[in-house]
Amino acid sequence: MKPFAESCVQNRDPIFKVIKPLFSRSRRLLEIGSGTGQHAVYFAKEMPHLIWQTSDLEENHPGIRLWLREAQLDNVRSPVALAVCDRAAWSHLDTYDAVFSANAVHIMSEEDVICLFAGIGEILEPGGLLVLYGPFNYNGQYTSDSNARFDLWLKERDPKSGIRDFEWLDELASQATMNLNQDVEMPENNRILVWEKQID
Ligand SMILES: C[S@@+](CC[C@H](N)C(=O)[O-])C[C@H]1O[C@@H](n2cnc3c(N)ncnc32)[C@H](O)[C@@H]1O
Repeated sequence: MKPFAESCVQNRDPIFKVIKPLFSRSRRLLEIGSGTGQHAVYFAKEMPHLIWQTSDLEENHPGIRLWLREAQLDNVRSPVALAVCDRAAWSHLDTYDAVFSANAVHIMSEEDVICLFAGIGEILEPGGLLVLYGPFNYNGQYTSDSNARFDLWLKERDPKSGIRDFEWLDELASQATMNLNQDVEMPENNRILVWEKQID
């Protein structure tokens, strides 16, 4: 049976409203942590001009494949195995002019997030966009009580996970030669952060 995340149904339209203009000139997009695959099929169908490459840990590939098989879209690619601290996995990837990842950096450990930005720095083409969706903290502060509760819940499940500080992510992006381009407020105390890879 196809895996199903209700959150994807709730957040896909608000996310699409923001990413549609951002990705209007993108041609090849890598999604990191595709999860169920629901975002991939929904967004790729709406943006037929771009190739949407799914990726995730291998354990999630069967579910992603079920969504892809049902959708029968020409512009979505079967998942590649990408655990972000696996350097060999990054070295086998093509380059992309866009990267998208939703709700992943608060699931990953800090070490994973460092690997994530370093890896993206290697495969994102100059002028390409990195778009992250999820909850973020600012100046070490939660933006809502519900995010504070969510962080507690995350850490009880896995002490290495947790809502990340915007400033830390921006520093990692900087080290990977990406500059902040937009920070968009989203429903339910989420944000969309957009960085652009420097053109040398
Ligand atoms: C909360 S889910 C989000 C899935 C989907 N993007 C969404 O918004 O519904 C987090 C995703 O991050 C992936 N993930 C966690 N750790 C990872 C790692 N070290 N490398 C790559 N992906 C990872 C998980 O497998 C999962 O698909």
